[in-house]
Amino acid sequence: MAARVFPLLLLLTTTSYAFTPHDNFLISCGSDSTTEVVYNRHFVGDSSHKGSAYLSEGTSSSLTNPNSSPNSTVIYSTARVFTSASSYTFDIKNLGTHLVRLHFSPFASPNYDLRNGKFGVSANGISLLTSFGANVTVVKEFFVLVDRDELEIVFTPDVDSGSNFAFVSAIEAFSAPRDFFIDSGGIALISPGEISEFKQNVSNQALETVHRVNVGGLLLTPFNDTLWRSWIPDEDFLVIKSAAKVARTSDPPNYQQGGATREVAPDNVYMTAQQMNVYNGSLANHFNITWDFPVSSEGAMHLVRLHFCDIVSVALNTLYFNIYINCVTAYKDVDLSVLSLHRLASPYYIDFVVKNVRGSGVVRISVGPSDLNNAMKKDAILNGVEIMRMVNYAAPSPPGSKKDGKWIVLGCVVGGVFVLILAVVAVLAILRCGKGKPEPKPKPKTRRAESTGWTSLRVFGGGSSLAAISQGTVPASASPYGLYDLKLLFADLQLATDNFDKSLVVGSGGFGTVYKGVLKDSVKVAVKRGVPGSRQGLPEFHTEITVLSKIRHRHLVSLVGYCEEQSEMILVYEYMEKGPLRNHLYGSDSPPLSWKQRLEICIGAARGLHYLHTGSAQGIIHRDIKSTNILLDENCVAKVADFGLSKSGPCLDETHVSTGVKGSFGYLDPEYFRRQQLTDKSDVYSFGVVLFEVLCARPAVDPLLNREQVNLAEWAMEWHKKGVINEIIDPHLSGQIKPSALKKFVETAEKCLAEYGVDRPTMGDVLWNLEHAYQLQTNDGPREEEQRAMDGDSGDGEAEAPVVVPSRRAGAGGDGGSDMSTSHVFSQLVTNDGR
Ligand SMILES: *[C@@H]1O[C@H](CO)[C@@H](O)[C@H](O)[C@H]1NC(C)=O
Ligand SMILES: *[C@@H]1O[C@H](CO)[C@@H](O)[C@H](O)[C@H]1NC(C)=O
Ligand SMILES: *[C@@H]1O[C@H](CO)[C@@H](O)[C@H](O)[C@H]1NC(C)=O
Ligand SMILES: *[C@@H]1O[C@H](CO)[C@@H](O)[C@H](O)[C@H]1NC(C)=O
Ligand SMILES: *[C@@H]1O[C@H](CO)[C@@H](O)[C@H](O)[C@H]1NC(C)=O
Ligand SMILES: *[C@@H]1O[C@H](CO)[C@@H](O)[C@H](O)[C@H]1NC(C)=O
Repeated sequence: MAARVFPLLLLLTTTSYAFTPHDNFLISCGSDSTTEVVYNRHFVGDSSHKGSAYLSEGTSSSLTNPNSSPNSTVIYSTARVFTSASSYTFDIKNLGTHLVRLHFSPFASPNYDLRNGKFGVSANGISLLTSFGANVTVVKEFFVLVDRDELEIVFTPDVDSGSNFAFVSAIEAFSAPRDFFIDSGGIALISPGEISEFKQNVSNQALETVHRVNVGGLLLTPFNDTLWRSWIPDEDFLVIKSAAKVARTSDPPNYQQGGATREVAPDNVYMTAQQMNVYNGSLANHFNITWDFPVSSEGAMHLVRLHFCDIVSVALNTLYFNIYINCVTAYKDVDLSVLSLHRLASPYYIDFVVKNVRGSGVVRISVGPSDLNNAMKKDAILNGVEIMRMVNYAAPSPPGSKKDGKWIVLGCVVGGVFVLILAVVAVLAILRCGKGKPEPKPKPKTRRAESTGWTSLRVFGGGSSLAAISQGTVPASASPYGLYDLKLLFADLQLATDNFDKSLVVGSGGFGTVYKGVLKDSVKVAVKRGVPGSRQGLPEFHTEITVLSKIRHRHLVSLVGYCEEQSEMILVYEYMEKGPLRNHLYGSDSPPLSWKQRLEICIGAARGLHYLHTGSAQGIIHRDIKSTNILLDENCVAKVADFGLSKSGPCLDETHVSTGVKGSFGYLDPEYFRRQQLTDKSDVYSFGVVLFEVLCARPAVDPLLNREQVNLAEWAMEWHKKGVINEIIDPHLSGQIKPSALKKFVETAEKCLAEYGVDRPTMGDVLWNLEHAYQLQTNDGPREEEQRAMDGDSGDGEAEAPVVVPSRRAGAGGDGGSDMSTSHVFSQLVTNDGR
């Protein structure tokens, strides 16, 4: 493949802090007020004397949301409904690209339920939306070239789909900054498997924003953006989160002539980035950081704008990296020092046009180190990504043929758009809550630091040898993949598994088959063998080894080795004798665990998770915590399994790629539905469910139970609120639990299940609280008094009488409900759910 490079030259634009558009129309539809302030901007009602001038022919009426509260976003409390094709017309003084933002915030009123509307929207004859409907608040953003002195936005009810009205809540139409899109030529066109030059003018294209991402940074609201845009964090698009680490600076970027301006992207975008997560820049740097951005799978054309600002280098000309888009080398040996005129921390952007792989459903962007010899350190960065769909792209007609470009028909494709929608919903939710707490928060301090007179338990006894807790990493022997030389010989694995004998299979799934094996040094292992000969997912396999080999923790199931020989891809993990925690709680013949064992297991798992979130591996979110992913070794030491695994991507072939979210029913963070993003607090939520599972010995979801009992989290919280939690505890625990320990344990679980991530504790806090519960249970001496005082317990009796579980509950814990999937000891190693 020809890796030609088309550097984009940027023209000179003026830099001013507050951008003032020449044309600036902000309309609150259906409202008669003359000014409504949102994000410091003044919207005018289209029923007011001043605003009604924009409303042209057609039949329409204004509606007010009967349920709007003073807290609702003011422009969303009214809407205009059109019963025939109708339009707004704006006089344009400044020809050129304009931003058009359409807000749809549906509500039910006596005559119309706006959620049921289906309609089309066009701007100066360009169809922006067809057969569009909104059942939640949606903001659609477009860039439209206006080449005459008016901009007419037409709303047409889609009679064909049985809708007799269209609606809109608010409209923004304003001039984009000069030279926002530049037609200097030389923009690379990335098609499946090849790169060429995009021969058309980008500014002629009507564009719809699909993703706008602040890589390595926080959610940015319209308050924080020069053009009142929203930027969302990139975390959830990362294919392998642990391959990247956040870089940030507190110094404002050095804007320069010829580079990006503040209007192209705000300071905040350029002040954060993701960079390669390598140790000291010297080892294990042979991998890419990769993001998958969902887009419609129709093979549409997209403008992809990548933002860069070298905030990681200490000297010029030390950072060289490659950019890949859909696995094509889109830009080789990028040298930001040269592009941004020999100045560090100077913003720059590069545009690409991407003809998407039909059916893949994502645009895949990777950055990885360059092979150049003079690259001092191997690293790669990215600060921001925007992906915009070419709404009315027409392929240039081939010479001679007079067929004209075929118009690509564009429906209201949801795909990646929903991320934008959710970002907006999240923004509004935050604003409504008043303070606009940005989220996810940077690592909050753990409670440990604030505690008085309380030292956390380092050793938590039990029958097992738990004294030495090895955290962090072990001295290195450098290998191609990192700190450990983990390469295993295929012959040894054949020997270990009796040549992959069927009788040793402990599980199977999309990746392949898992065998129990014994290595030459009698170490028991779980051998996960990919389908032989299939080289699919090879880069992911490599990255996974690089990442997992760095992670060593007593409470994480570790990678023992890998094998890459004779077209084999094999991962070898330590073997966990006692299998999933779940099998020891219900649904099997295993003898019930004691309360103390259960506490130890919860503490161990919390420790493992805490390390994933904050340890040297940094910021790994597990995303699928459940009792089948917590494994027990022969001493009942808990280890968290199934982290760091990657999803497969769109490059390998054109088959469908699921970018669906990981996570299991019953354990999934409810906030995920609002933010469409899993955070470390999502793990905390799932862990809260596990805590109740441990206490009550029943599945997180049991569809055979009464409706109010189906979901464990809801059910347990309900009983806890009523103050009768002890009635639903596993009867096997009767007489074992001290009330103070129970109280602490249940309070901890309750906090984990808080509706909003910000209100949930960190894993560090959870760990601390569980250790506290453990100490209350084992009651070693005077500490008990102290703790009672700290907890505000009355502490009236010396010896606590243990909690007795009413007998009528007996039996509910025994039979394990309806889930049949627990038979595979290593089911956790073979999940195939779209990663
Ligand atoms: C609305 O705002 C008031 C104070 O302005 C607050 O007390 C109330 O809880 C808010 N309601 C909602 C639903 O956020
Ligand atoms: C909204 O519409 C989408 C698709 O049109 C549908 O999948 C979703 O369930 C609807 N949501 C609600 C709350 O009705
Ligand atoms: C692109 O724009 C330039 C001026 O900006 C113009 O000269 C050229 O003809 C345009 N090309 C196309 C294909 O429209
Ligand atoms: C975004 O703007 C709000 C309101 O002006 C401000 O409180 C907040 O700190 C800003 N966030 C960032 C990341 O700059
Ligand atoms: C990385 O650097 C730190 C200090 O800068 C040093 O303590 C550590 O040993 C280095 N690790 C490796 C693997 O070189
Ligand atoms: C990075 O990704 C590209 C495109 O998929 C691939 O060709 C290249 O080998 C990858 N580099 C590494 C180091 O994995």
